[in-house]
Amino acid sequence: MTTDLYSVPAANGVESNLLRTAPSDDATASSSNSYKPNGTYQKPESSQSEAEQQQEELFSPSLISPEILAVLPEGYTARPLRRSDFHLGYLDVLRVLTTVGDITEAMWNERYDYLYKRNDEYYLIVICDGAGKIVGTGSLIVERKFIHSLGLVGHIEDIAVAQDQQGKKLGLRIIQTLDYVAAKVGCYKSILDCSEVNEGFYIKCGFRRAGLEMAHYY
Ligand SMILES: CC(C)(COP(=O)(O)OP(=O)(O)OC[C@H]1O[C@@H](n2cnc3c(N)ncnc32)[C@H](O)[C@@H]1OP(=O)(O)O)[C@@H](O)C(=O)NCCC(=O)NCCS
Repeated sequence: MTTDLYSVPAANGVESNLLRTAPSDDATASSSNSYKPNGTYQKPESSQSEAEQQQEELFSPSLISPEILAVLPEGYTARPLRRSDFHLGYLDVLRVLTTVGDITEAMWNERYDYLYKRNDEYYLIVICDGAGKIVGTGSLIVERKFIHSLGLVGHIEDIAVAQDQQGKKLGLRIIQTLDYVAAKVGCYKSILDCSEVNEGFYIKCGFRRAGLEMAHYY
């Protein structure tokens, strides 16, 4: 079977394009009863050891598209960020995007814990290679509005693929993974800012130019 790079094969063999089609609720409903339709994830009561908590993921893994997992290169996986990802090269991957600064593990943990308390708003994902090393990442931040009947808007941020892993469709898979989350939690659109040099990439991911970014730096 030939697979369009921009669509993913569905479990029933019928191809679906995740960037344009809101997925059904079935997958989430069957894999998590802690996930609420208004975009909030009720964390289960924890009886975990500290080691288990280190591995605990930022948000429900039921929001990771099984269809995307199925089309990643062999051995690769996509999952929510973990607190322990400090040790797996997360910040190094971000360094291909911009300046990260010197972040100690204590600083990382403090920021991670902040995000974890707001995990119906911050959805950070990683792609790992066969050895478990982080080779790509992306973030979706869900904004809750009054307009559009309390509409939710997804903001896609900090997309990065390690230099030696670029060109393998990992960037595309990161965007598709975030798009799937956005649709699942109820966003009516996702938006992002990018430089001219990356416009072609986002067009290939199904985005189109809409408006003009303005910035005021402090
Ligand atoms: C931009 C980036 C995320 C793309 O990731 P990637 O894994 O290399 O891209 P993919 O392999 O998924 O590319 C998917 C398609 O987009 C195309 N593409 C990738 N980067 C592109 C670019 N800058 N301009 C135009 N097209 C691009 C690819 O050629 C491919 O098209 P094809 O199917 O016709 O071959 C990656 O290059 C990166 O991390 N760059 C540095 C950080 C950065 O600039 N992030 C974006 C911030 S807005």
